[in-house]
Amino acid sequence: MPITLTPDERQRYKTHGRKRGFLKAKDAEHLKVNLPGLTLVESNDREMLLAQFKQEKPEESKLWLEIGFGNGEYLSHLAAIHPQDCFIGIDVFLEGVSALLRRLERQDSVNVKVAVDNANIVLLEKIPLNSLDRVVINFPDPWPKKRHHKRRLVQKAFLDLISQRMVSGGQVSLATDWAEYSEWMLEHLEAHEDFLNTITNGGFAPQPENWLTTSFQKKGIKANRPARHLLFQKR
Ligand SMILES: C[S@@+](CC[C@H](N)C(=O)[O-])C[C@H]1O[C@@H](n2cnc3c(N)ncnc32)[C@H](O)[C@@H]1O
Repeated sequence: MPITLTPDERQRYKTHGRKRGFLKAKDAEHLKVNLPGLTLVESNDREMLLAQFKQEKPEESKLWLEIGFGNGEYLSHLAAIHPQDCFIGIDVFLEGVSALLRRLERQDSVNVKVAVDNANIVLLEKIPLNSLDRVVINFPDPWPKKRHHKRRLVQKAFLDLISQRMVSGGQVSLATDWAEYSEWMLEHLEAHEDFLNTITNGGFAPQPENWLTTSFQKKGIKANRPARHLLFQKR
C-alpha cells in the first residue's frame, strides 16, 4: 500500500547536490508540458504499477528502476533495447530530467516513467513491495570525505528499502569509478542478509552486457578512474 510521508519525515531525506542546473526557457516549458504525463504515480502492487505503462502484455514485462539517471543516457539506451520492458527513472536534477525527456521523444520510447524526488522518498511512497526485477545504480555521488559518507546513497537503510521492493531473484547492478566507494558498496551488499553476490567467489562483476559509456563515465576514464561493477541478487 502506498504511504505518504509527513513533511517532518521527508526532511530526513535531504538530497545534496545540484537540483536545477541550467534550464533554457524552452526546456523549462517543455518539461512543464510533458513531465506530468510521464510522472510515476503511486500504486498498490506490481500489477497496478505496470498498468501505468500501457504495454500490450504488461505481465510479460520486466520492471526496471534506475536511481540517479543523470542526463538519461543509460536509461534511454535501456528503454530502446528492451522496448517490451517497463522503466522507472528517479533523479532530482531537472536539467537531466529535461535531457531524458528529449531523448525519449527522439527515440519514440513510451516505456519510461519518471519520479523527480529523493530516491528514498520515491521508494517509500511510489514503489510497491515485491515489484522490481532490476535496479540500476550507476556512478552515484561518491561523497569521498569521511564526514560526508552519511550522504552516500548506498547505506543499510537504503538497501533495506530496495530489497523490500524487489522480487525474489531480482538483481541490483551498481557501478562506480571511485575505488573506495566500490569497496564500501561491496561491504554493504555482502553484509546485507537479503542479497547474494552473483560472482561465485565474491568481488566485483564484469561490465554488464549492452553497457553504454555515458559522458559522466568518460570524465572518470580521462581522469584515470576505471569503473568497477557489482551485481547482486535478491534471495
Ligand atoms: C554522478 S551522477 C551519475 C549520473 C548517471 N547515473 C551516469 O552514469 O551518467 C549522480 C546522479 O544521481 C542523482 N542523485 C544523487 N542523489 C540522489 C538521490 N538521493 N535521489 C535521487 N537522485 C539522486 C544526481 O542528481 C545525479 O544526477
